[in-house]
Amino acid sequence: MTSSLFESFKLNETLTLQNRILMAPLTRCMSDDDLVPTQAMADYYARRADAGLIISEAVIIRPDGQGYPNTPGLFSVAQIEGWRKVTDAVHAKGGKIFAQLWHTGRVAHPHFFNGEYVLAPSALGVEGTVPRMRELEYQTPKPATLEEISQLVADYAQAASNAIDAGFDGVEIHGANGYLIDQFLHFSSNERGDLYGGNPENMSRFALEVTDAVIARIGADRTALRVSPVGYFNLTPDHRDEAVFDYLLDQLNARSLAYLHVGIFDDSAEYDGLEGRPTAYLRRHYAHTLVGNGSYSAESGSEAIAEEKFDLLAIGRPFIANPDYVEKVRTAQPLTEYDESMLTELV
Ligand code: FNR
Repeated sequence: MTSSLFESFKLNETLTLQNRILMAPLTRCMSDDDLVPTQAMADYYARRADAGLIISEAVIIRPDGQGYPNTPGLFSVAQIEGWRKVTDAVHAKGGKIFAQLWHTGRVAHPHFFNGEYVLAPSALGVEGTVPRMRELEYQTPKPATLEEISQLVADYAQAASNAIDAGFDGVEIHGANGYLIDQFLHFSSNERGDLYGGNPENMSRFALEVTDAVIARIGADRTALRVSPVGYFNLTPDHRDEAVFDYLLDQLNARSLAYLHVGIFDDSAEYDGLEGRPTAYLRRHYAHTLVGNGSYSAESGSEAIAEEKFDLLAIGRPFIANPDYVEKVRTAQPLTEYDESMLTELV
């Protein structure tokens, strides 16, 4: 029933995946205090090297992108060397791994980088406190100036180049889940009146500039993007957002990315604004390789691929609970159920 998952898949001339199961990006907050990946992280990823492609936990592109404790970075020499241990370990077992490039925007916190403010499209904050650090309240962000926006774009490209230096096979730009790029794409977090706000074309500009800068640095074959057309996490949805994504996806169609990936926890939920499931919406508007995700099992994901709803399946929580997820599915063994208590240890 799941055999189609075990067919190899050619992403492009540069990359062929050994199967269609991707390990979804999963933040674990386990780097050392200099945000350098550890040996335990190398071992954790290497145990999952039989996935068609591992997407690393989100990796911050520069210090002010940090919004959670001990999330790894890709901006210092030590971090690049730390990631080299991870990518070598994955490659030694025949796997492939992309780095997910991250800036949290308004859900960053100055506590982590000794800063004075956090940057975002507009001075619209989120309520609440940093997860795992209840004493840190979110701040009202400083709207990024045009100069700061250009620097951010350049820093995404530099992080992509650092990722290649660290041995990654490519990068996935984190445009999902209410972080910096997604904040530009939604009306509830973007009220700019300049070239980066006010209408779909302007609101898509930052995402497209980052994508183009990364492509220019490392090539489209090694560049992917994750998006959340539904503003479901750290964002308030607005019925006008759909037109932004219609425009963005139309533009992405011309860019030959390695793949487009949906960021959603449960793809079975239907959304009025999207006229159905998030992946169905993306499939209608995006013509190339699409990665489905969000509460799928190997069976339901395999069925969705057979029905051409998407091309590749990203698995998140079950991969935390089952380092041998791929082997268990291949041999029809029962899976260990995911539980949040598993987040305290890298198994
Ligand atoms: C996530 N998710 C996530 N997404 C992302 O784009 N970057 C990240 O760093 C993380 N981190 C993360 C940590 C943890 C503990 C969880 C549970 C989730 C979302 C994840 O990639 C995926 O979209 C969801 O888990 C839904 O897929 P599953 O778990 O239903 O297969």
